[in-house]
Amino acid sequence: MIQPFIEQKFSLGALEGISEKTVTEHLGLYAGYVKNYNAINAEMQKHMSEENPHTLAELQRRLSFEFGGMRLHEYYFAHLEGGAKEPSEDGEFLKRVNAQFTSPEGLKKLMKNIALMRGPGWAILYYDPKSGQFLTGFSGEQHVGHFVTLPIILAIDVWEHAYILDQGAQGKGKYVDAFFQNLNWQTCEENLNKVI
Ligand SMILES: [Fe+2]
Repeated sequence: MIQPFIEQKFSLGALEGISEKTVTEHLGLYAGYVKNYNAINAEMQKHMSEENPHTLAELQRRLSFEFGGMRLHEYYFAHLEGGAKEPSEDGEFLKRVNAQFTSPEGLKKLMKNIALMRGPGWAILYYDPKSGQFLTGFSGEQHVGHFVTLPIILAIDVWEHAYILDQGAQGKGKYVDAFFQNLNWQTCEENLNKVI
């Protein structure tokens, strides 16, 4: 029996540079991913024993797309909850970021450059427990280009819907700056602490 995913609720409050309208519409898009994931997953169950594999193959492809949209937005909105907060001064996150990127500012600059890559997608910071280091990445759309098995520490949505209402079509850079102004770094710290 399949278990449908449940839409998570987020309480973001007022954000710098990201309007309430953008947040409301964006949360609606997230809800759509959860709904579509569940609908496609349910539909797939009807085709498991079908002789024509093409229907199942297309549903399978779409399932991965919807899952990516659902899960990455859950990281993203969690980063914007609780107000802007610095990482703990004596925590493993800050220690490891300083060792690899010199400072959170160094990491921020790198992530901004990745976020400014052209095309819709996500700038993502992963952590590789096997080698004990962070990896940076860009997932085209939301289901392509991930480092397999690696847990996500920070996920920045850089689809146009995240900023076009507030910053215009050429406002991705301003939006990424706003994202970091609002970022609760402690959510990154929590994500790291779960995997070290
Ligand atoms: Fe989004």
